[in-house]
Amino acid sequence: MSADSIDNLLREDRRFPPSESFAAAAVATSALYESAATDRLGFWAEQSRNLLTWQKDFTQVLDWSGAPVAKWFADGELNVAYNCLDRHVEAGLGDRVAIHWEGEPGDTRTITYAQLTADVKRAANMLEALGVGDGDTVAIYLPNVPEAVIAMLAVARIGAIHSVVFGGFSAESLRSRIDDASAKLVITADGGWRKGKVSPLKPIVDGALALQKFDEHGNETPHTVEHVLVVRRGENDVDWTDGRDLWWHEQFATAASEHEARAFEAEHPLFILYTSGTTGKPKGILHTSGGYLTQVAFTHRNIFDLHPESDVFWCTADVGWITGHSYVVYGPLANGTTSVLYEGTPDTPHPGRWFEIIEKYGVSLFYTAPTAIRSFMKVGRQVADDFDLSSIRVLGSVGEPINPEAWIWYRDVVGGGSAPIVDTWWQTETGAIMISALPGITTTKPGSAQVPVPGISVEVLDEQGVTVLPGGGGLLSITEPWPSMLRGIWGDPERFRETYWSKFGTKYFAGDGARRDGDGDIWLLGRVDDVMNVSGHRLSTAEIESALVSHPIVAESAVVGAADETTGQAVVAFVVLRAEHAGGQSADEASVTLRTHVAQSIGAIARPRQVIIVEELPKTRSGKIMRRLLQDVAEGRAVGDTTTLADTSVMSIISAQLSG
Ligand code: WT7
Repeated sequence: MSADSIDNLLREDRRFPPSESFAAAAVATSALYESAATDRLGFWAEQSRNLLTWQKDFTQVLDWSGAPVAKWFADGELNVAYNCLDRHVEAGLGDRVAIHWEGEPGDTRTITYAQLTADVKRAANMLEALGVGDGDTVAIYLPNVPEAVIAMLAVARIGAIHSVVFGGFSAESLRSRIDDASAKLVITADGGWRKGKVSPLKPIVDGALALQKFDEHGNETPHTVEHVLVVRRGENDVDWTDGRDLWWHEQFATAASEHEARAFEAEHPLFILYTSGTTGKPKGILHTSGGYLTQVAFTHRNIFDLHPESDVFWCTADVGWITGHSYVVYGPLANGTTSVLYEGTPDTPHPGRWFEIIEKYGVSLFYTAPTAIRSFMKVGRQVADDFDLSSIRVLGSVGEPINPEAWIWYRDVVGGGSAPIVDTWWQTETGAIMISALPGITTTKPGSAQVPVPGISVEVLDEQGVTVLPGGGGLLSITEPWPSMLRGIWGDPERFRETYWSKFGTKYFAGDGARRDGDGDIWLLGRVDDVMNVSGHRLSTAEIESALVSHPIVAESAVVGAADETTGQAVVAFVVLRAEHAGGQSADEASVTLRTHVAQSIGAIARPRQVIIVEELPKTRSGKIMRRLLQDVAEGRAVGDTTTLADTSVMSIISAQLSG
């Protein structure tokens, strides 16, 4: 974000106090802030006991003696799947709808808590019959279909660890995640519906497992996968490897129906989820059971003002992202919520598809990303106005800063001019929401995520780790451990320390810039590292650069995130071609080739908006690429200070090339 837009943000002075009627019936009360401020650990212990069912109660809340690896509720025992399923059925809520599933072509499934519990029990038996157990890792590469939820919960139920890989990732990305976590089983589908057609998944799994990988000595490293379990969804033809590949429906049909949920320790690993960092290699973020489930359930209930008996909740995220893990699967189910799960894209088969779904299921709590709101703004409010959205009570935003224009549009058009908006800041690493207004309590400000969640300690620090005063800007830090915090980077404790704990010691470094306004409210300003945020998804410049240089025509590349009206940031790549290839393809042809190449190597989400072929990259005398200058060019600004460049003419050549 540029300095100009930050100043504009801080001049935003519209205020939206909660209505009296909303406040009167609100789940959250200001007593939450008070009790968390008086006794933070006691507060979390109470929340955990209230929201979850522990098979063995805990005696200790937090053990920070092994910092930066925290233990929460360590001697307690619970089963995460039991908390999301069986206990609701035992409480007489078996007939409540857990999931209203809507396939992209319009087919639907309504799944009650009783049915979901039965399905997960059977799936748990199916996994155990395949030799999967306590501590094994299972890769899940599925579209947003009920089996994705069933698979995650079945894995959790037996104490195995899931690693969900977003269905848009390439064979190469999938394989590196399978290898990093030594996955024993892959659960996938033949294909899923996207944009009006079946997008195949099984062939990508086949491709991933067929890739040849070598260690540093040049020896081939075989994959660890014993079986591939395939859900039939797309009905597309798939190749079959006998002995390895199994149909989900066949295995499921013969699996036993009863399954007892054994208790696991609170710190039992629940899942790994990969996210991009500042180097080319994605990090496997590790989350565990009791603390994670406590904070996702707490935030889901209080931030969305959840009344589980009457609300219909819809988080539009794909289960392949952390938002899907915490607010499609674990939070809503732990709270016994009725949710919507939608398979496809927002504009298929028509631009009002999401609004149609809100109307159809009477969605009352809606959670999406600013990029989606901005796309709806583009098509115009008449699309939304064709549907009855009067069921909406609370609107959530996540993934990137929401600009005030989009905030006001969201409130007016989707929220009928009255629904409170919660702008929720958090990360894959934090596991659950950390900064957000509480509806019914907070007077909201468009563009600001505002205040830490009760029980969460957040500060804005300067480079030296000193707290900045209201009005000042700096780096966002979480200063006390929190229940749903990551417990590490899978297989890489050193990187864990280095990435998050080397800057401020036992205060967590989030990687985001932030400012506090005069009221102390927090405004997020975007990443301060080489990480881009495209449509609310994190992408690493280094990972895309390494994909680009893996192509034979590329000599060198530099990637920047350029401001984009719809996606927040967009990937713009500057590429120097190898001399011997430079004559072979025109710049336009090379650019098309390389955009496709990145999509194939990482996934379509990483496809650059532009690949700009240049003669040379701007570098300092010590050889460091000056991305800041390239970002100026990519965003169409006058190029900033070039005096530290080794060759000061480079930028004028690039600029001239682009304007010419
Ligand atoms: C990064 C985390 C966990 C949500 C999905 C993204 C940015 C997230 C906000 C917000 C401003 C936000 C941050 C953060 N971010 N929410 N409400 N306002 N920025 O998860 O891929 O782990 O990315 O998303 O930059 O560090 P993620």
